[in-house]
Amino acid sequence: MSQVKSLKDLKRSDLFQQKGYIAEEWVDAVSGKTFDVFDPATLDKIATIPEMGREDTGKAIKEAHTAFQSYKKTTARQRARWLRKWSDLCLEHSDDLALILCLENGKTLTEAKGEVTYAASFLEWFAGEAERIHGEVVPTANLNQRILTFKQPLGVAACLAPWNFPIAMITRKVGAALAAGCTTVWKPAGETPLSCLAQAVLAKEAGFPKGAINVITTLKSVDEVGKALCESKLVRKLSFTGSTRVGQLLAAQCSNSLKKLSLELGGNSPFIVFDDAKIETAVEAAILAKFRNSGQTCVTANRILVQKGIHDKFLEALTEKIKTLKVGPGTQEGVFVGPLTHERAVEKAMNHINDAKKYGGQVVLGGSPYEGAGKGYFLQPTVISGMSKEAITTREETFAPVVALYKFDTEEEAIETANDCDVGLGSFIITESTPRMWRVAEALEVGMVGVNLGLLSACESPFGGVKMSGYGREGGRQGIEEYLTIKSMLINVAN
Ligand code: SIN
Repeated sequence: MSQVKSLKDLKRSDLFQQKGYIAEEWVDAVSGKTFDVFDPATLDKIATIPEMGREDTGKAIKEAHTAFQSYKKTTARQRARWLRKWSDLCLEHSDDLALILCLENGKTLTEAKGEVTYAASFLEWFAGEAERIHGEVVPTANLNQRILTFKQPLGVAACLAPWNFPIAMITRKVGAALAAGCTTVWKPAGETPLSCLAQAVLAKEAGFPKGAINVITTLKSVDEVGKALCESKLVRKLSFTGSTRVGQLLAAQCSNSLKKLSLELGGNSPFIVFDDAKIETAVEAAILAKFRNSGQTCVTANRILVQKGIHDKFLEALTEKIKTLKVGPGTQEGVFVGPLTHERAVEKAMNHINDAKKYGGQVVLGGSPYEGAGKGYFLQPTVISGMSKEAITTREETFAPVVALYKFDTEEEAIETANDCDVGLGSFIITESTPRMWRVAEALEVGMVGVNLGLLSACESPFGGVKMSGYGREGGRQGIEEYLTIKSMLINVAN
């Protein structure tokens, strides 16, 4: 059996940082307070990190603002070169980055490597976009005037990354911000600060100037830090990925400074399997959409809606496949389902399972915490089907490896059920019919639709939602626009 990996296996130990980062200095919190980071697979302490607060945040903002005065004058070509270098460094050190990510988040090493590649892709993508920030010449009604527009960076951008994709979400935000000419203050999630800190090491090495990158770490003082970022008039942009509840709070706190916001919030993705689907395609897509990061993605297949003609065959094939998925620490070879990241996650999933049972749900597989992999936050991969729409699984993200299956009759019913919720982030359609693909994709109230696949992630594709899933787009051609403002210039050309 191969050796289980640990921090001792890092090739570059300097990527493992346990301090905040302000203006090229690795710093403690002004208060001297700290918090601990744990491996969710073993519950072992892996790091002690500064518990920063309002004062530290104020310093980081000030440094970012000072740096902005010169950074905004750098050429797009130069910024693109720094981003490309950073992307290359990520790939060069992907084993180390993946190990750090795996240990603090719990995802498997294979998935963590995938996330590093995904993270690097945003840097490369936005390196290209930096040089495509174009203005326009606008046709005028007045013969004596010419009008043109050009785009400029907004200023300091606060980038708040979640714990489920700590490396890729920081580059998706920061890559766009730095490409646009903004300077940045990063706030990683308290559960997973180490991946972001490692990224700061590489970004510095790539050549970004002093103050362009600052990292504030916090677990318990997150409200205080969030408020400081929201209320500061020097911060002109805030980008957040996380829950709808926190997104609403941040939007309210940003209202006084009227800063530009992007909010990528909770989802409740329908995964719709039609009678005409290929079973193998449906199962493969469902495994990816449901079990990536142990079900902890904003676009996870939360409600699997299956048409009645294919329902039983699909349920059987999916269950058989899930039985083969190995559960265990992400550092162990062959593991497909790692632990959940958060200490309350298993309890939440169990509440959802027990609630579904009350509403007629049959547990087809799993249904309990997993005891066979040590002390961590493990749950048995679970399949539950047949509950009525009143069950919590219909309305709330379970964020765990729990497959919740519902039967439907007609296409209209599937669309109505899929849209019957407050949020609208991702969705999946499995069908062999092209006309149906169009009809359903157009009718779904979501920001993203996957067809015959289980992954919505690509740096070229705009990522974001509608309704209570927030607003703004990350990645794609649109991602950089979130960090830019348009200036129009009207010129008198009369003699
Ligand atoms: C998320 O879960 O918030 C992001 C997932 C992705 O980008 O694929």
